[in-house]
Amino acid sequence: MAKILVTGGIGYIGSHTVVELQKVGFEVVIVDNLSNSNIDVLNGIEKITGIRPAFENIDCVDYLSMDRMFEKYNDIEAIIHFAASKAVGESVEKPLLYYRNNLVSLINLLQLMPIHKINNFVFSSSCTVYGQPDILPVTESAPIKPALSPYGNTKQIGEEIIRDTIYANPCYQSIILRYFNPIGAHSSAEIGELPNGVPNNLLPFVTQTAIGLRKHLQVFGSNYNTPDGSCIRDYIHVVDLAKAHVIAVQRILNHKTKSRVETFNLGTGRGLSVLEIIEIFEEVTGVKVPYRLVGRREGDIEKVWADPSYANNELGWIANETVEETLRSAWVWEQNLAQRAKAE
Ligand code: NAD
Ligand code: WQD
Repeated sequence: MAKILVTGGIGYIGSHTVVELQKVGFEVVIVDNLSNSNIDVLNGIEKITGIRPAFENIDCVDYLSMDRMFEKYNDIEAIIHFAASKAVGESVEKPLLYYRNNLVSLINLLQLMPIHKINNFVFSSSCTVYGQPDILPVTESAPIKPALSPYGNTKQIGEEIIRDTIYANPCYQSIILRYFNPIGAHSSAEIGELPNGVPNNLLPFVTQTAIGLRKHLQVFGSNYNTPDGSCIRDYIHVVDLAKAHVIAVQRILNHKTKSRVETFNLGTGRGLSVLEIIEIFEEVTGVKVPYRLVGRREGDIEKVWADPSYANNELGWIANETVEETLRSAWVWEQNLAQRAKAE
């Protein structure tokens, strides 16, 4: 079966996608510079699938090394491009780091594609491109709102760079996937989210608080215009998200795309508030999450959830996992991490 380059394949979403790709027989080459991940993830992937994917420790910003990598693996048929920096707050402090890492990586890949006769490109975008949508659930045709951070801007500009490049090169095709909020871990608990330092995202903070690493969770904002006053998001199991990438790659390789650039929302279609997430987490795990209601976090969107019907109908993909199962998987993963830390 076809060989797929997965940039950022040691990271959170990338590693789960590598597992799903290998499960259906794709051969995978991972390029990752380990800037936000740990090489041990390769062992986790191998334990789950029985296959150790090819791995190259390369920075996608380094054009010459990427060129050499494509020469070495000269039969790659498609690229899934996850590699990027993703911390919203850090992007405000270090904008050039984000523009350089996220955009130069992307440009390098798009530039190297025709040289190495690769036509197919799948891109990790984000619901962040919608800002606060006027209509919910949000569809792919909703207007793109001004980005609230340099990180968000890299996704908006990234999408535009892809569209311009694909339309200028008749052989190219691309699928842009806009993720909502990925959470959870593989059911084996061999791979999962590995946040660096104090987590920014809700779920790792919830699980770290539940296990006692953090004293309490801060719930940012309690007077939003939502039923319980806390923000609403569309939380999707990372394995459901990973499976959508396999379908996207199959679609693009089998020339089933309906336009040269297709864009899909990947979400569940269900919005849940921060307080609902805490409540369901406590119910399914039986563990209390001490929390405090605090002021709003700057730049937060009040509420957003996906209309995933285009992906459901066109890709034949649906987010199957329940939020209960998803939260349980995140908890099992956190417990596994704690055991590993003890053993070290
Ligand atoms: P992650 O940080 O866990 O994974 C990204 C991986 O890319 C890491 O392993 C990192 O070491 C690697 N990487 C970063 N820059 C690189 C470079 N220049 N060269 C080579 N490797 C590099 O992040 P993730 O959550 O798995 O996100 C994957 C993609 O999905 C990113 O593009 C992110 O912006 C996008 N995304 C993530 C979320 C989310 O909430 N996690 C939501 C929407 C979109
Ligand atoms: C979810 C909700 C917080 C932490 C970010 C990026 C977005 C995308 C996904 C990549 C919000 C609340 C959080 C905490 C809290 N990434 N919260 N206490 O902000 O929806 O999106 O990650 O593309 O671009 O902006 O995700 O997990 O940070 O927050 O109350 O300690 O949880 O206010 O309502 P967010 P998140």
